[in-house]
Amino acid sequence: MAFKTLATLLSIVATLQVSNAAVIKRVTCSTGQVTANAACCALFPIIDDIQTNLFDGGECGEEVHESLRLTFHDAIGIGSNGGGGADGSMIIFEDIETNFHANLGVDEIVDAQKPFIAKHNITPGDFIQLAGAIGVSNCPGAPQLNVFIGRAPATAPAPDLTVPEPFDSVDSILARFADAGNFSPQEVVALLASHTVAAADHVDPTIPGTPFDSTPEIFDTQFFIETQLRGTSFPGTAGNQGEVMSPLKGEIRLQSDSELARDSRTACEWQSFVNNQAKIQSAFKAAFAKMTILGHQASDLIDCSDVVPVPKANTKAATFPAGLSNADVEQACATTPFPTLGTDPGPVTSVAPVPPS
Ligand code: HEM
Repeated sequence: MAFKTLATLLSIVATLQVSNAAVIKRVTCSTGQVTANAACCALFPIIDDIQTNLFDGGECGEEVHESLRLTFHDAIGIGSNGGGGADGSMIIFEDIETNFHANLGVDEIVDAQKPFIAKHNITPGDFIQLAGAIGVSNCPGAPQLNVFIGRAPATAPAPDLTVPEPFDSVDSILARFADAGNFSPQEVVALLASHTVAAADHVDPTIPGTPFDSTPEIFDTQFFIETQLRGTSFPGTAGNQGEVMSPLKGEIRLQSDSELARDSRTACEWQSFVNNQAKIQSAFKAAFAKMTILGHQASDLIDCSDVVPVPKANTKAATFPAGLSNADVEQACATTPFPTLGTDPGPVTSVAPVPPS
């Protein structure tokens, strides 16, 4: 008995030593911050610079949204037709890739990010993914995304047609994600959580900055609720390619989001995010971790995830926008009813555009 206790004690001591070793391995950078790897120290001055000068002092605004979109458009450039994944090719081969139809508008954030890359010692591939993760940390409710560094500069542009279009079918979207990185339909849905902090400038060019949900500055689950509501009107003009009717004035709905919310392969997964803040955080974090290293092995990169600030929490429960209720849901998941939610009080209002900065 005594021997057993001693053995247990010894194993506890051993465990403590192991965790101590992990702690001791952490380094204090010359800037005073602590991180797991000395190579990550170089990121802190870059983070300070982009928070102040790219993200307007730590906002979850237009540049954050655009930087998150850019992480995807750079990373997804890989698959059976070639491409290096998250390799900075969108910036290095800007003249080619930003002209692809699906990249319409990406040139703006490419131009905004280039001076920071020129100023700091970081590759475009690393910078794009770092900026996305840091930007998202400004959005209340977001997960703390992973950051890896060590991507070599792209040596060739990605081919055209790697980025899905909002008018693509669910078949083609799922096939594209599977080809790019073996993403499952569930992981595709998780990645689309990104559209909770998003707006469109070019789907209907007459109404730039029109958001996909009523809270484009919060990483909440409203996007998954509002895409499931019956569409009743177009926020701007009708007849735009890749757009379908939305349930709210001032909100735009992509045809692809609408179809993914209603397809039998993805509808239940889509609905499972409704009012589930823990799930949107963990599922998006995991899917982003896979996307952010497309074209690389995690073991070839340095994990600098601890440089990312912990985002503020979102404590507000999900609701139906004023005037809408469970009666407006287009139920698509065949096995589980849509959750019962409260409705925002007050008169029906219009969703405000995301201001340009
Ligand atoms: C089926 C896949 C997807 C399609 C068809 C799609 C399509 C689009 C379209 C058409 C826009 C509007 C662009 C504009 O007019 O300005 C947009 C915006 C955006 N997308 Fe996606 N997207 C997809 C997946 C993703 C993924 C996986 C991410 C990130 C992980 C992402 C992040 C964003 C963000 C953050 C914006 C907002 C940009 C801004 O507000 O400036 N999207 N997306």
